[in-house]
Amino acid sequence: MAPISLSVRKALPEDAPTVLALVRSAYRGESSRAGWTTEADLVDDQRIDETGLLTKINEPFGAVLVAHDETGEMIACCEVLKKNDTVGYFGLFAVNPLRQAGGIGRTVLAKAEEYAKQTWGLSEMQMTVIWTRIELIDWYVRRGYTRTDKKEPFPYGSLVGGEALRDDLYFSVLVKAL
Ligand SMILES: CC(C)(COP(=O)(O)OP(=O)(O)OC[C@H]1O[C@@H](n2cnc3c(N)ncnc32)[C@H](O)[C@@H]1OP(=O)(O)O)[C@@H](O)C(=O)NCCC(=O)NCCS
Repeated sequence: MAPISLSVRKALPEDAPTVLALVRSAYRGESSRAGWTTEADLVDDQRIDETGLLTKINEPFGAVLVAHDETGEMIACCEVLKKNDTVGYFGLFAVNPLRQAGGIGRTVLAKAEEYAKQTWGLSEMQMTVIWTRIELIDWYVRRGYTRTDKKEPFPYGSLVGGEALRDDLYFSVLVKAL
């Protein structure tokens, strides 16, 4: 496989519409089925709205990172948030469904972990996955994450413009020492 040439930077407010489209295409609806893992059968909403995304982009102790390919197309994004002096949170992770399974996700995750270490000196990363997504949890385990016994509630009451398709959802918490 040819090496991936990605340029990764912090998102700016003007990136919000492109990030929003990328996130929605990867997590939700028919477009997401082109990828190898999706939430299309679990949740039918918009994942996040522009206001929520701008809050993350402007967060002083956080960053939305965006990755562009050599043609300048935005093909991946993620969020990193400093939770406290040692622990970070990783989320809002999306790769264009038509570009998945080629190593882009792995590369962006590694860059996000590096960002958390370099920027804030963090020593642990946490993230959450809907418990049914075993193939995705396995992917994080192969990236060095450990599944914990901790659970977080699914935000049934605050979904964006839609609804959940199951009533038994919650998040499993995964951690990794950086
Ligand atoms: C999760 C996501 C970011 C990964 O991006 P990616 O570019 O596909 O990741 P990579 O190319 O680095 O890795 C692809 C992996 O998928 C695996 N894979 C490919 N097809 C698969 C399948 N049908 N079932 C299970 N695993 C599969 C590959 O083996 C590879 O894993 P490995 O490197 O450990 O061998 C991407 O799938 C995505 O955007 N998903 C939708 C949004 C989402 O679920 N985000 C994460 C929320 S926590």
